[in-house]
Amino acid sequence: MTHSTDEQTVEPTGERFATLEEIYARARERLDADTWAVLDGGAGVEQSLRDNLAALSRWSFRPKYLSGVTELVTGTTFLGIDLAFPVLTAPIGGDGMFHERGQCEIAAATAMAGIAPVVSEASRFSLETVAAAGDGPKIMQLHAWGEPEEFLALAHRACQAGYAALCVTIDCPTLGWRERTMTRRFVTPQEQWSGNYGADATSAANRLVSGSGSDWTWETLSQVRQRLDVPMLVKGVLTGEDAELAVAAGVDGIVVSNHGGRQLDCLPGTVDQLPEVVETVRGRVPVAVDGGIRRGADVLKALALGADVVLVGRLTAMALAAGGAAGVYAALSLLRAEFERSMLLAGRRALKDLDRSVVQPRAGGPR
Ligand SMILES: Cc1cc2nc3c(=O)[nH]c(=O)nc-3n(C[C@H](O)[C@H](O)[C@H](O)COP(=O)(O)O)c2cc1C
Repeated sequence: MTHSTDEQTVEPTGERFATLEEIYARARERLDADTWAVLDGGAGVEQSLRDNLAALSRWSFRPKYLSGVTELVTGTTFLGIDLAFPVLTAPIGGDGMFHERGQCEIAAATAMAGIAPVVSEASRFSLETVAAAGDGPKIMQLHAWGEPEEFLALAHRACQAGYAALCVTIDCPTLGWRERTMTRRFVTPQEQWSGNYGADATSAANRLVSGSGSDWTWETLSQVRQRLDVPMLVKGVLTGEDAELAVAAGVDGIVVSNHGGRQLDCLPGTVDQLPEVVETVRGRVPVAVDGGIRRGADVLKALALGADVVLVGRLTAMALAAGGAAGVYAALSLLRAEFERSMLLAGRRALKDLDRSVVQPRAGGPR
């Protein structure tokens, strides 16, 4: 069986790519050096970027053999959204640089894969255009900046367009200090991220690049939360202190994230912070994590360390560059297959069996 999107026929089993590594290599081949620097790079000396990967590599599995596991249960519900497996695609701004249909292709692929995308506000395409590109549920990402009325206007547009939830990014009051692109004198063209702003694009541009910051506080977040009826995630929490403030502000879920190492540099790897956040939250809201997830085994580690779902950023953007919706669908299929194979080999049948007993600290250096 094959699925059709607007532009291409997609093989549902990912035959075009045998492994995720092939997808990453294809993205590298397809993108020019400036775009690769945008996608692959981070902020400063890229310590946060490396530490996301290093943090995951510090864990090994503790298998339970002869557990009699044959069939797996990996479907879940997150903020009322049914997911075929516990993964969301992370918001990817500047998306038109990676594929001419950007997040529209991601939305088509996630619908086919039975999961949901978190759609970036900083897109070449309007949120309405992305909403129409795939018939699955979607989450809209917004930044914690600007006048609350301006934020609410965009949030209401997203609700009108059918987004099931909102995700507010708190770690991007202005752009990080991204030296890989600065060295190349490359600035992402405005049309690649301003599809939602219309005539307000210039003020959004000033906010992003001027370094002037955002006057939002947790109180601002709490006030806008009260004026919205859809579930709200907050993305960019790294400490127990911020997790407690997020819960107090009335959020419905937390994403432990350092923005893929693209904002403040020298932040800890996200799975190093995940247990602190999970312990603070104590089940009051679900907790997601992103940062450095490149393989199915990484998903299993993140869930074992307490995440309810995992977001994939560069994996999605690279797959988009490698092959549009077909590439993203192939990547999600391979990610799911390797995650499920790892679960089965580790002797765990269901998501509820994934806890701290699945992993132990790894002796030795990074992978
Ligand atoms: C090219 C690119 C664009 C991104 N744009 C956004 C964005 O617009 N909003 C946002 O909240 N996060 C953005 N992020 C961060 C991701 O949503 C996510 O937090 C991060 O990529 C996770 O790390 P990973 O790339 O190692 O999976 C972007 C990441 C990349 C790689």
